[in-house]
Formats: sequence, C-alpha cells, structure tokens
Amino acid sequence: MITSVSVEFPFPVTAVADALCAWYAKSGRDLPWRHSRDPYRIWLSEVMLQQTTVAAVIGYYERFLQHFPTVHALAEASLEDVLTLWAGLGYYSRARNLHRAAQQVVDDYAGVFPHSIAALQQLPGIGRSTAGAISCLAFDQPAPILDGNVRRVLCRLLAVTEPARDRQVEQRLWLVSEQLVPAQNVHDYTQAIMDLGATVCTPKQPACQSCPLSAHCLAYARGLSAELPVTRRRLAVPTRYQAIVLINCKGQKLLQRRPIEGLLGGMLEFPTVDLLDAAAAEEQVGELLARYGAAGDAESIGMIRHTYSHFRLEAQVYRLTGCDLRIAVDCGLFWQPETELDRIALHGAHKKALALSRTREGQRNA
Ligand code: ADE
Repeated sequence: MITSVSVEFPFPVTAVADALCAWYAKSGRDLPWRHSRDPYRIWLSEVMLQQTTVAAVIGYYERFLQHFPTVHALAEASLEDVLTLWAGLGYYSRARNLHRAAQQVVDDYAGVFPHSIAALQQLPGIGRSTAGAISCLAFDQPAPILDGNVRRVLCRLLAVTEPARDRQVEQRLWLVSEQLVPAQNVHDYTQAIMDLGATVCTPKQPACQSCPLSAHCLAYARGLSAELPVTRRRLAVPTRYQAIVLINCKGQKLLQRRPIEGLLGGMLEFPTVDLLDAAAAEEQVGELLARYGAAGDAESIGMIRHTYSHFRLEAQVYRLTGCDLRIAVDCGLFWQPETELDRIALHGAHKKALALSRTREGQRNA
C-alpha cells in the first residue's frame, strides 16, 4: 500500500537503496534462507528470527525443514512434533501460530501463500513487518518493514530524537520505511537493511566508519549515533523463584505438560513449584513430593537462571532417585525414558535443569 503522505528526506531517496544494495553484494551475510524464494521457507525464517538472533536460529531452521519441508508437511504434523522442534528457541506461541497458519494456508489457499499484505497479516503470528518481509523476500513486491534492526537504522539515519516506540514516531517510521523501499531489487534491499542493523548499525558501538550510509546519516553527522534510538525507560524486570524437581526411577524421569493456553503453552517440564519465599524451597518441595506419594528427601543440586521477556527466573534444582513408578500418575504426570529427553518439547529453563543434573551425575561418577 502506498500512502499519499510523504516524508522529506535530506538526501535523494534512491541513494539509500543504491548504497545498501552495493554494500550487500559485497558484505551481506550468506544465510541459509537467502538461497530461497519459497514463501514457506522465508516465512519460517522470519518467524524464527522474531526476537531471536541469527546464530540461535540457523540450527533450528535447518532441523525444522528436514522434518517439515513444505507447508503441507507442517499442516499435517502434530502440535507435539512442532513444539519438540521448537524446544529451546523460546516464545513458543510462535510455534503454535506457525502450525495454525500452515493449516490455514492449506485449507483456505490450497497450500499457496497469498501475496497481499492484508491476507498475509490475517494469518496467525504474521504482523505488519513480517508480512512486509515475506512480500519483499519471496515475491519481490515492495512493502515496508519495521523490525528492531530496521527501526534502529531509520532512527539514526534521520536522527529521530523522540522515543522510537511512541505511536506517532512509529507511524512516521513506517512512512519512512515505505518510501525508502525501491521499486526494483526489493529482495536485496530488504536483506541489506536488516543485515546492516544486525552487523554494522548495532545497538552498542555502531561501526559508523564502515557504514555504507554514513554519508547520508544525520545521527552520524551530529555525533548522535551512540545515543539513538531513544527508548523509553524499561520497568524493572521482576525475578520469580521456583524449585524444579527431577524425579528419577529406573532410567526414567517424571514430566508434566503445561496447559495449552498461556506461557510456554503445551511444552513439557519437570515438576515445578513456585516459591513464595526462596528460603522455603525445601519445605515446598517436600510438600510436592508428599502430594505425589513419593518417599525420600530430594537433594539440592544447584540453581539455574533463565530470562523471559517480562521476568527473570531463578530456580533451585532438586533431584530425587529411587522412586516408585506408581507415584504421581493420578496427578496427570508421566514417565519418560532418560534417552528420550533430548527429543521432546522440553522448554529452555528445564533443558538447563537437565544439563545441570547430567553435569552433577558426571562429577559424581568421575
Ligand atoms: N532478521 C529478520 N529477518 C532477517 C533476515 N531475513 N536475515 C537476517 N536477519 C533477519
């Protein structure tokens, strides 16, 4: 959609796209999704890259495609298998939305991704920026994007000194983004501006000396690069405390599934208690084990930390061995062989708890 409102640029608009495309041809990163124009692959990469770094995504992306090479394969998969392949990547609503969106593409569009931004945005998990990226990267159809990297590049290019997330600033940045997209070479331009934000125009210590846009950049000219973009002060992130209990019996561990709705929906985890008071962990773990009908005292094996978008978690990890296989089955829990634990939808914090327990086991046997 091209709006009638325009933004005044202090440089010829085409100069930005030209400089970016020339830089990308020489210095762009060779990333797996850049070899394809398949909208399914591009959509998958864009969803995985939301709030996640390229380095974290690459392995997940390749494994996911080995299991689900087409939108049809994904639509037919079980949610369990999708969550298993996503386990550890975080923001699990992305995986649930991806699965639902694949089913809609198959049911409503006979498996062919729609080309219009409006139709793309109707699919679960596709916002305006992701729709724009799919349009540019898969269909070579100009559309604006405004993810975190692009927002930073544009705020610096135009020396935007108001908070970048304010509604009016955001609206203006969308206009800027729209007007900078060239009519041709849309794919390379879009990859280029995202790469520039990720590798040169970085949040801290931007490499302005090697930036292809420095000749046009107002922040650079005014010595403001390090201060921009302006972010609103974040509220302090609270810390939550939990105890995670690894209960072992005959080479198996006890697991539970989180409710489908809500945080980490559908993912698997070890039995967990929210601690009202971190000092009372032992007592609360004892109560949990009593509820399960488990005999014996759990042993504390250390602590893990994990960061979520809106809180930090500190969890004390406990281990109980030599249980009876009949415990806790009435509580909706189930046993999983130790050898399967790397192939299930265990979420990130509990992968850390498992790794800690394996380290302790190794130390004990050394
Ligand atoms: N971040 C979002 N989309 C990206 C892409 N296609 N390449 C690299 N980083 C990205």
